[in-house]
Amino acid sequence: MIGTKGTVVAVNGNMVSARFDGAVSMNEVGYVKVADKKLKSEVIRIRGEICQLQVFEITKGIAVGDTVEFTGDMLAVELGPGLLGQVYDGLQNPLPQLAQAAGYFLERGVYLDPLPEDRNWDFTPTAHVGDKVNRADTLGTVMEGAFTHRIMVPFNMYGSYTVSKITPAGTYKIRDTVAELTDDKGRTVPVKFSFRWPVKRAVDCFEERLKPEEPMVTRVRLIDTFFPVARGGTYCIPGPFGAGKTVLQQITSRFADVDIVIVAACGERAGEVVETLKEFPELKDERTGRSLMERTIIICNTSSMPVAAREASVYTAVTLAEYYRQMGLNVLLLADSTSRWAQAMREMSGRLEEIPGEEAFPAYLESTIASFYERAGIVRLKDGSLGSVTIGGTVSPAGGNFEEPVTQATLKVVGAFHGLSRERSDARKFPAIHPLDSWSKYKGIISAEKVDYAHGFMRRGSEVEQMMKVVGEEGTSIEDYVIYLKGDLIDSVYFQQNSFDEVDAAVKPERQIYTFNKLLAILASHFTFPDKNEARVWFNRLRQKFLDYNGSHWQDDRFKEMEKDIEEAVKKQSTGLDKAAEHILA
Ligand SMILES: Nc1ncnc2c1ncn2[C@@H]1O[C@H](COP(=O)(O)OP(=O)(O)OP(=O)(O)O)[C@@H](O)[C@H]1O
Ligand SMILES: [Mg+2]
Repeated sequence: MIGTKGTVVAVNGNMVSARFDGAVSMNEVGYVKVADKKLKSEVIRIRGEICQLQVFEITKGIAVGDTVEFTGDMLAVELGPGLLGQVYDGLQNPLPQLAQAAGYFLERGVYLDPLPEDRNWDFTPTAHVGDKVNRADTLGTVMEGAFTHRIMVPFNMYGSYTVSKITPAGTYKIRDTVAELTDDKGRTVPVKFSFRWPVKRAVDCFEERLKPEEPMVTRVRLIDTFFPVARGGTYCIPGPFGAGKTVLQQITSRFADVDIVIVAACGERAGEVVETLKEFPELKDERTGRSLMERTIIICNTSSMPVAAREASVYTAVTLAEYYRQMGLNVLLLADSTSRWAQAMREMSGRLEEIPGEEAFPAYLESTIASFYERAGIVRLKDGSLGSVTIGGTVSPAGGNFEEPVTQATLKVVGAFHGLSRERSDARKFPAIHPLDSWSKYKGIISAEKVDYAHGFMRRGSEVEQMMKVVGEEGTSIEDYVIYLKGDLIDSVYFQQNSFDEVDAAVKPERQIYTFNKLLAILASHFTFPDKNEARVWFNRLRQKFLDYNGSHWQDDRFKEMEKDIEEAVKKQSTGLDKAAEHILA
């Protein structure tokens, strides 16, 4: 079959307009031919016999009259074993291999197979000849690292089939045939170990969507205890330049309690991306003892790549996430930064001369962001198992102003908001999540009542602090001053977490619950001091003890010694308990 052909009639930056004859559809892939190269592009608008394509490569050299070849296929990714551990660009080209073939990010028009074709996979069939199957049903499995990778009926094979042939157990390669399926009209279709799926369509082969309820533990105290994220939920991390968005995502990608992590680094500075690439394979996953990279996929587009590639990368990433969810796994997708993606949208929208919305972003900014986050979710699969995709995206608003359109559009759809604060990052209070501005709609690892009680001290402590700035310490009562010191204590020993300390960097939920209760008992105690100076000195000492406690290994001698020390100090100083707190401490 000869595909539709077109001719370039205009070039505007990254966008090419082409006149075509035949049929062309939205999001179809076309190749613009320039010299001996074919540049991958996607149809983003069709008007009569003219269509616009966004070109995923630098458009230098394209001229009016050049040929466009349409493929009839949507922008798609290849799904199959061998995705884990890969580093891809937004079009699923494996970057290390691309670098070998063409030099890092240099040559355009070079596209490589996403999955290693010569790798061997030990296949175990689970389907039998005569079985009735539908799309996404499992035909057999291979082991991919520590995971059982399901070889499934391609998601685009709608209708029902009968297994007419199944490959016996043995060693195979990705292009081998795994089964033959016969449809109700007697047509037989061979199925391979991999298949393609269009990135802009959500994978929908599950029985039902469930409400995200179970916490996805990150081992960051401020998140798990105060602003939790649920498995299958969504959250965003807006923060000004350099406030710690990327570091926080890196910590999360290492320690979050999920099976697979997909990092979409879209439009980050090239140097930062290279850092990630160098560091990741060396990190160990403490659960498996293997390289962290074995359960990670990195999609990266640096800001030096054309904007259209950034757009593709978030969709590629979420599609890969949905694929692994289909295997009953918990997947975490981290997108850094979604602002760069939104800027790409703005740029294309400008080229299309669409009517601009707020700050020149397209009017569909909100719905596009919403439909991306809606691809998160915890689902019950047909075999009864559960799988989840959790999405966390950073936003980098200019000047750290959260009122701008991308932050606002994201806030409307996510379930938790971890707002980073310039003030806190400047004071090197990390993670710089603002404890008063942030929120979460999800259930955490500790009861809301206890959390609210503790949070109250933070809030009131901050009010006292503001007041002290006006009236001075002398104008503040000793009672208020103690509240301020208690707020400061929570901040120092619980909110802040030392990411360079071997122990404190990641805290397991049982330890969070345990130390939180210890802290709660301190907050609920009444203390009387002769003057503010003594109060301050006492709290300083307590804080130091608590920090040592945080830094000691869970339940070892040092830990127990520090705990005893803290409890004795509190007992000696305390004059009773807050009546209102008695029942939550019980
Ligand atoms: N949890 C942390 N512990 C210690 N230092 C941190 C932490 N988070 C951030 N930093 C410091 O802040 C710097 C900037 O952090 P990061 O690169 O994550 O910011 P960002 O918000 O991603 O910035 P950009 O807007 O440029 O992408 C880091 O290089 C590090 O020095
Ligand atoms: Mg960053």
